[in-house]
Amino acid sequence: MILGWWESRQLIIMALRGGTKQSSPVLFTKNQPLLSMTNPIIPFYQSTGKVVVRSDGFHQYDSEGKQYTDFDSGVWCVNLGHNHSGINRVLQEQMNISVHHGYKFRNLLSEHLSEKLLGLNNLSGGQSVFLSSGSEVVNLSITLAKHLTGRNRILKTDNSYLSAYGHGQISDQNTGLQTVKMNDIEALSQIDFREFAAYVFEPGTSFGLIRFPDPDFVELIARKAREAGCFLIADEVTTGLGRTGKWFGYQHYNIQPDMVVCGKAMGNGYPVSSLSVSAEIARQFEKSQFRYAQSHQNDPLGCAVALEVIRIFGESGIIRHCHETGCYFREKLEGLKNRFPGKIADVRARGLMLAAELVADIDGESISNRLFDDGFVVGFKQNVLRFMPPLTITNKETDLLVDALERNLSAL
Ligand SMILES: Cc1ncc(COP(=O)(O)O)c(C=O)c1O
Repeated sequence: MILGWWESRQLIIMALRGGTKQSSPVLFTKNQPLLSMTNPIIPFYQSTGKVVVRSDGFHQYDSEGKQYTDFDSGVWCVNLGHNHSGINRVLQEQMNISVHHGYKFRNLLSEHLSEKLLGLNNLSGGQSVFLSSGSEVVNLSITLAKHLTGRNRILKTDNSYLSAYGHGQISDQNTGLQTVKMNDIEALSQIDFREFAAYVFEPGTSFGLIRFPDPDFVELIARKAREAGCFLIADEVTTGLGRTGKWFGYQHYNIQPDMVVCGKAMGNGYPVSSLSVSAEIARQFEKSQFRYAQSHQNDPLGCAVALEVIRIFGESGIIRHCHETGCYFREKLEGLKNRFPGKIADVRARGLMLAAELVADIDGESISNRLFDDGFVVGFKQNVLRFMPPLTITNKETDLLVDALERNLSAL
């Protein structure tokens, strides 16, 4: 018998009420399937087929009661961990006040949030807008840069992601997008920055298999861009809010962006994103405005969540914790690399954004699948194992993961 969604949900809630915080109730067995055999979801990504029924901190639980340690933070969203009680409280409180409003009103939450972000990014006197996803704010920042400069081209580094669609989408049709190879300083002399509306800078490329550009390269681009009136947009959708051991990933470089976009961790799983711009851009926009009519703009619910996330980051010492656990994790991975020089080709890390690149003739996908069977969710792409856990992770979980990785590498 397959349960209906309401029945399933009630069963989960009842079981969780009776369950303990440490254990997940076994709700469904193979004899009592939760889902029908035909999946009514369009398969834009390949899931394992497991059903998640509960998440808590850095753990997720499937319907058979198995626990997984999430070393990917969902899709790099839950930097404070899943199911955070403080965020849940704010969500519930704000839901009872106001979730959404129309264009005729201002709201205090969005204005407080903007002030916070502008302060954190040294953009005082600037302005912000809040949308839902990272792709939306990346696209909007590019639209704004093109509008203000009257230029149509955008520069990015190889392996950057930018956006799922639109100006930032990497496709043959998107002819305005030019790519420069990361750290290729010579190539920069061939580029006429006066043709470009903006350089979209990703301070650590998650899509690009965890690579961090050299300061010389980034700082030279920033200088050339400024001289040529090309805006510097920091794409902090992945690196923002503590992930790299600083508030923002660009703060590892001696640069000042004109625009900063954030998403993912800002809502700790709730969809909210931001575009913050300098006072100079705000001044230019005042003279040359355009309408941008998207329904979920400056919604108070998302802003309330983001304010709470930022408050927790500012008061909890979590960014320092991220730096310290990240250093420990890196040492552990480097230790593994020394023990398995023929299996691990490279280790890259900044804060809790880490990668272990396996040598080409190792079947990395099977290692990643075995880690999943062992109860660890890790990212995998092109023989690179990616680790971006919630920043609350401790050395104990890191040890368990590295032990599992060592076992699987030894078994090859
Ligand atoms: C650097 C970067 N920018 C933008 C995005 C797009 O964000 P979203 O998936 O929320 O649309 C992503 C997504 O992974 C990203 O990694």
